[in-house]
Amino acid sequence: MILNASGCLDALTAPGVARSLDAFVTKTVTPLLRAGNPPTRIAETDAGMLNSIGLQNPGIDRFCADALPRLRELGVPLWVSVGGFAAADYAELCARLDGEPGIAALELNVSCPNVASPVDATEEIVRAARAVTAKPLYTKLSPSAPDVAAAAEAAAAAGTDGLSVVNTLRGLALDERTLRPVVASGTGGYSGPALRPVALAAVFACHRATGLPIVGMGGVESGRHALDLIAAGASAVALGTVLFRDPSAPGRIRAELAAEAAARGFADPLAARGVAHEESAAPLPPSTKTPAKTP
Ligand SMILES: Cc1cc2nc3c(=O)[nH]c(=O)nc-3n(C[C@H](O)[C@H](O)[C@H](O)COP(=O)(O)O)c2cc1C
Repeated sequence: MILNASGCLDALTAPGVARSLDAFVTKTVTPLLRAGNPPTRIAETDAGMLNSIGLQNPGIDRFCADALPRLRELGVPLWVSVGGFAAADYAELCARLDGEPGIAALELNVSCPNVASPVDATEEIVRAARAVTAKPLYTKLSPSAPDVAAAAEAAAAAGTDGLSVVNTLRGLALDERTLRPVVASGTGGYSGPALRPVALAAVFACHRATGLPIVGMGGVESGRHALDLIAAGASAVALGTVLFRDPSAPGRIRAELAAEAAARGFADPLAARGVAHEESAAPLPPSTKTPAKTP
């Protein structure tokens, strides 16, 4: 299953890209309108990008009145990402969305690095959300948590149905000439290729700790990267930064993933789920072995 990562695709501007996904995840919605952080909000860096959007969104009332009806018309399963500053915010958002038809899951963003977020309150937030909705809940964790497996266990104990792993890391880029921060708010969320090993380690730890369904994300640019996350324990993969430069990535990566899994003898990519945790590797079929060097 291939999804977009929250905040990395505007489905109403690019409906064709949204329809190429198995589910569309909205940008994080908060109780009230947020204008977001001042520009400059994006910077290119080595091996990834920095963003400091600051959870710009219209607020839950306008989201439900304007965006949601149009998103439903896409015909793609819809996940709504919600965020706030206290457990009560998450409860309010989930209660409101619980009554809305056509939402397949709710993602609790407890991990945005660009707003002061109550990351230590994961268990309290999940419990508050769980009390007001029967919809599937996915809790999105930060790679900066001192112990991401402990955060995953806390979310599991509070009743989350799954995990989204990982959000961005905090990073900083300086202007070449002025040596001042490029992004107006100073630091930003660092995403893209540099996040891959971090995401892989976090998915590995969360799978081992909980066994819950996991949407793995962080720097995925190819089918091989997606297969790595599945082998570490992910049951679905989300695409973020790659979508900004390659809107055809969902179809391409889905095809590459099937080929990469088949080359290793898996009938289906999900048959590889968790194999990174197994003691010894089965020998590869001959077709995937590195060809002998010719003189
Ligand atoms: C421009 C931008 C905006 C983002 N906005 C959100 C957001 O609103 N909510 C959220 O949970 N994550 C947000 N993220 C984080 C992504 O969903 C994802 O977790 C992260 O970028 C790692 O994946 P990637 O390396 O494939 O981009 C955003 C990322 C980017 C680059």
